[in-house]
Amino acid sequence: MRGGYGYQLDQGDTLSQPWYNFKYWGKRAWAGFIAVVVIIIVIIIIVAVEVTKKNAYPDYTQLNYSLAETYSGTSFFDNFDYFTGYDPSSGFVHYVPEAQATALNLTYASSSTAVLRVDTSVGPADNPNASTGRFSVRISSKNQYGLNSLFIFDVVHSPLGCGTWPALWLTDPSDWPYHGEIDVMEAVNVVSTTSNQMTLHTTSGCSMDVKRKETGKSLSTSCVNTTSDNAGCGVDAGSTTFGADFNSAGGAILAMELRSAGIRMWQFGRSSIPSDITSGTPDPSTWGEATADFPSTNCNIGNHFQNQSIIANIDLCGTWAGATSVFSENCSGSCTDYVANNNGSFTDAYWEFGAFKVYSAS
Ligand SMILES: *[C@@H]1O[C@H](CO)[C@@H](O)[C@H](O)[C@H]1NC(C)=O
Ligand SMILES: *[C@@H]1O[C@H](CO)[C@@H](O)[C@H](O)[C@H]1NC(C)=O
Ligand SMILES: *[C@@H]1O[C@H](CO)[C@@H](O)[C@H](O)[C@H]1NC(C)=O
Ligand SMILES: *[C@@H]1O[C@H](CO)[C@@H](O)[C@H](O)[C@H]1NC(C)=O
Ligand SMILES: *[C@@H]1O[C@H](CO)[C@@H](O)[C@H](O)[C@H]1NC(C)=O
Ligand SMILES: *[C@@H]1O[C@H](CO)[C@@H](O)[C@H](O)[C@H]1NC(C)=O
Ligand SMILES: *[C@@H]1O[C@H](CO)[C@@H](O)[C@H](O)[C@H]1NC(C)=O
Repeated sequence: MRGGYGYQLDQGDTLSQPWYNFKYWGKRAWAGFIAVVVIIIVIIIIVAVEVTKKNAYPDYTQLNYSLAETYSGTSFFDNFDYFTGYDPSSGFVHYVPEAQATALNLTYASSSTAVLRVDTSVGPADNPNASTGRFSVRISSKNQYGLNSLFIFDVVHSPLGCGTWPALWLTDPSDWPYHGEIDVMEAVNVVSTTSNQMTLHTTSGCSMDVKRKETGKSLSTSCVNTTSDNAGCGVDAGSTTFGADFNSAGGAILAMELRSAGIRMWQFGRSSIPSDITSGTPDPSTWGEATADFPSTNCNIGNHFQNQSIIANIDLCGTWAGATSVFSENCSGSCTDYVANNNGSFTDAYWEFGAFKVYSAS
């Protein structure tokens, strides 16, 4: 029977039974309903797992650091080896041994400062000339470091010049890329002022496509050396963090913490150096967000980073600075011709450091 207003149930009249009244559902309807519920539950679980993964973040709880080593003063270079082999980065450079570096004044240390420079003395008409590469220096610390290390680098001047590829970094020179590479400062062909790049390089199984807490800008998230010609997972530290403006501001303090939770780097301008760094009791847990954060979420830091030596060098041309498309952005002609023939253009191509300090936590 149908009433005057809307709808009443007529027993036996299947057509008039409302679909949403489960009392009248058949087996097929129930099966369909259960299937839908199961699918919804599975979707909820997948979303929850993905959200959890996306929010996964390591525990950077406070570590208690104590001073392990200081590189400073007139003995600054004593605890470094001078690399003299063929340049692994295919640069247009002859890395000279210690005696020649000292004679050419390419490394120089006083009580307050250590300088590492590119040679400017060899002109195109000299014999020998720089037609097969210019003299430069690459030093690596004799001591090597692992997890629970905190490095404080006082950098007063960053190198400038067409063709230059300076870096302050760490790796195990005898086991690259298996023991990893940590680039704290790196830039190429700096003619004015530019951004510092902080980068990791590893073997397979290290990605930064995860939650991070950093003020810098991620440039690429695969750290694996076979991705994009070994570009690494770089972070742009921000404008004026390398080059002329950096230098005229007196440089900065670069801090790098290596621990199983992750690798973090900070770049502090002279006016914003945390007081615990100045007082020699650095505590990264009080510094706020890092400039570059490489959490361990998708990268086993202890496996990928071992036996790290501190390295400072100035390469010339090579696979990055010398790439035509890169060189021509700010400089003209061929990189190697430029480097061979313009000795007077490398007077600003030098690193100047204050002290390097390494702290360790047990
Ligand atoms: C660090 O030192 C503080 C204070 O001395 C202490 O409470 C804390 O447990 C220590 N942390 C570690 C990881 O040793
Ligand atoms: C070597 O370089 C340092 C730093 O630039 C400079 O102060 C010093 O005068 C140079 N020494 C010589 C002998 O040129
Ligand atoms: C460049 O080389 C020429 C020739 O050797 C030399 O006279 C000049 O002083 C050099 N320039 C610099 C900046 O060292
Ligand atoms: C530069 O040196 C190479 C040998 O190292 C020599 O063959 C060449 O003639 C030199 N160039 C000049 C301009 O003296
Ligand atoms: C290249 O020149 C441009 C324009 O002057 C400047 O913005 C940029 O920072 C320069 N790059 C380098 C590496 O010096
Ligand atoms: C990457 O590392 C492997 C060793 O794992 C090496 O054989 C290869 O040449 C490296 N490739 C680049 C582009 O660095
Ligand atoms: C590399 O580091 C490990 C500990 O991480 C150490 O046992 C080993 O002796 C180191 N190797 C070298 C060559 O320093």
